[in-house]
Amino acid sequence: MGVIELCCNTASSASLFVDKPKPICPFSQRNRQSSRSKRGGLLSSISIMASSTVPASAAVNEKEDGKQGNCSLNISGDSFIRPHLRKLKPYQPILPFEVLSARLGRKPEDIVKLDANENPYGPPPEVFEALGAMKFPYIYPDPESRRLRAALAEDSGLESEHILVGCGADELIDLIMRCVLEPGDKIVDCPPTFTMYEFDAAVNGASVVKVPRKSDFSLDVERIAQVVAQEKPKCIFLTSPNNPDGSIIGDDALLKILDLPLLVVLDEAYIEFSGLESRMRWVKKHENLIVLRTFSKRAGLAGLRVGYGAFPLSIIEYLWRAKQPYNVSVAAEVSACAALKNSAYLEEVKVALVQERERLYKLLKEVPFLIPYPSYSNFILCEVTSGMDAKKLKEDLSKMGVMIRHYNNKELSGYVRVSVGKPEQTDALMKCLKCLF
Ligand SMILES: Cc1ncc(COP(=O)(O)O)c(C=O)c1O
Repeated sequence: MGVIELCCNTASSASLFVDKPKPICPFSQRNRQSSRSKRGGLLSSISIMASSTVPASAAVNEKEDGKQGNCSLNISGDSFIRPHLRKLKPYQPILPFEVLSARLGRKPEDIVKLDANENPYGPPPEVFEALGAMKFPYIYPDPESRRLRAALAEDSGLESEHILVGCGADELIDLIMRCVLEPGDKIVDCPPTFTMYEFDAAVNGASVVKVPRKSDFSLDVERIAQVVAQEKPKCIFLTSPNNPDGSIIGDDALLKILDLPLLVVLDEAYIEFSGLESRMRWVKKHENLIVLRTFSKRAGLAGLRVGYGAFPLSIIEYLWRAKQPYNVSVAAEVSACAALKNSAYLEEVKVALVQERERLYKLLKEVPFLIPYPSYSNFILCEVTSGMDAKKLKEDLSKMGVMIRHYNNKELSGYVRVSVGKPEQTDALMKCLKCLF
């Protein structure tokens, strides 16, 4: 994968919004053909990650090199794979809970899992009742997720025709890219951030123009504007609160970026913990804004995979056409609807996590080798200092049954991220950390 250093000359920018497509109602009319210190130097440059390509002849060479092959046809299976995917680095997901449990030799309930920003309280009891009462699991689900979209309209104050539901926000990120990007198009990514944007861009054959965040993790809006003028990217992915540091994007910065000629995808996976209002309703005013949210964090439904997005009508039409018809399972839809019915529970759990975040922050500050960053989310990023190695810290804690997140990329190699758990999980983490100093 190539990295091209750029110098940022401002050039005139072409408008992407000259011919606005007419909004068409979904389905009814649609054609069903279908560190402060450590970070400064590393993050100060802009780079483009071109998606990897292997020439078609390479597959034949691999065959000749003695790799797998079919005797009668004399070809290797990977010659069928699209060239840019042949060198794709796989996404690094977390280990399944059972596998982790076997590896650590501990029962799942004895693992303090603070590595994936899951909601440790799980969903409200109504979700389990709804799952148990499911009558027609053998019938395909509603391709329009009507019940859930109606419930989300009530929850968000945005009409359901602006809302589309997916198999997690992750599916929607990929779906947006599939609808928007031609191979070779560019997206802007502002690391450190959620790595799914970069991964999905590579899957979709797009290049990633990186505009690193400043040392306080705020967006470098001026640089973003320069890059948009110079590189003409199709879209930008922004995260507020940002994963992994928990910082938020203010209205001023967002409005400046919305004034640029590109599609802005604002990922609000953690918005509930920020105390701020979602910008879902902004999609009615901004033709170039998409806002993504999820049930994984707010409702403890990460395992059931339900995300949703708010879209301008002129964009959502095409996502309806391109999405898999049965992308949201019956179980996912009934669970999300049941969760929304118990808003008191969702509020209670959110308040508990926000209070625990503040307690955890104060406790982490007392650890001599950690510098925690204030967070608006359900996790806290910590710089690992005083000669302590971040990777070893993660490994030592995991041997004691406490899982935290460590990063393999060079930008964040000296950092760990700790998800906010229940008070007893914080206590267990602190006990283990104390063994290390
Ligand atoms: C910023 C961000 N967006 C989206 C997601 C994925 O959400 P979902 O579970 O709905 O796919 C995550 C998951 O951790 C995330 O951190």
